[in-house]
Amino acid sequence: MTSISRPSSLLNIAPVIPVVVVHDIRTAVPLARALVAGGLNILEVTLRTDAAFQAIKLVTTEVPDILVGAGTITSSDQARKSVDVGAHFLVSPGCTDQLLDAMEDSGLPYLPGVATISEMLKVLDRKKAEMKFFPAEAAGGIPYLRAVAGPLPKIQFCPTGGITAATVEAYLGEPNVGCVGGSWVTPSDAIRDGDWTRITQLARGVASWPKRNGMGHR
Ligand code: 3PG
Repeated sequence: MTSISRPSSLLNIAPVIPVVVVHDIRTAVPLARALVAGGLNILEVTLRTDAAFQAIKLVTTEVPDILVGAGTITSSDQARKSVDVGAHFLVSPGCTDQLLDAMEDSGLPYLPGVATISEMLKVLDRKKAEMKFFPAEAAGGIPYLRAVAGPLPKIQFCPTGGITAATVEAYLGEPNVGCVGGSWVTPSDAIRDGDWTRITQLARGVASWPKRNGMGHR
């Protein structure tokens, strides 16, 4: 059982949601513990490897104090299976009607992926104002977010995709950015080598960043 309670917003848990690809199931728990030790209590496990569902199940069971999301959800089946293994939230790279229905039916908090105004409107139609902006850098980055803020001021984004240690602070300074997502906090070579100290240090480096627009993280 996790000691994490259901969040009302996924964007104010931490400045960064680490996006993790688990190839070797043995790395899942130490990786999550390394993030918690560095002060980050959220992660997204992408469903891109065979180990992903098992990793979600293990981490939710073994590591209290961390919210575990299932990411790269691209089908209704994946949404259902993520619920079955105990995921705390869902993240998708895009948003078909079917996918939005499945994530809503899961009963879990979710971040639907958007990259166009029409997709944003589709999600807003469902009374949902928190979205993953993906792939952030390739889709226009900060200039795009600024352009969207005028016509769609209610949306808060978690930009993800191509964000690095060098660009994260600039993203966090945008008023319509609640947090960012990315894989740079959990580099694949550090996971492969079991270098948990490095991951804790990287987590510590971002965990305490304030939001410059005044929104804090808990
Ligand atoms: C994701 O699945 O959200 C992205 O692949 C993460 O993007 P990044 O690896 O460029 O941070």
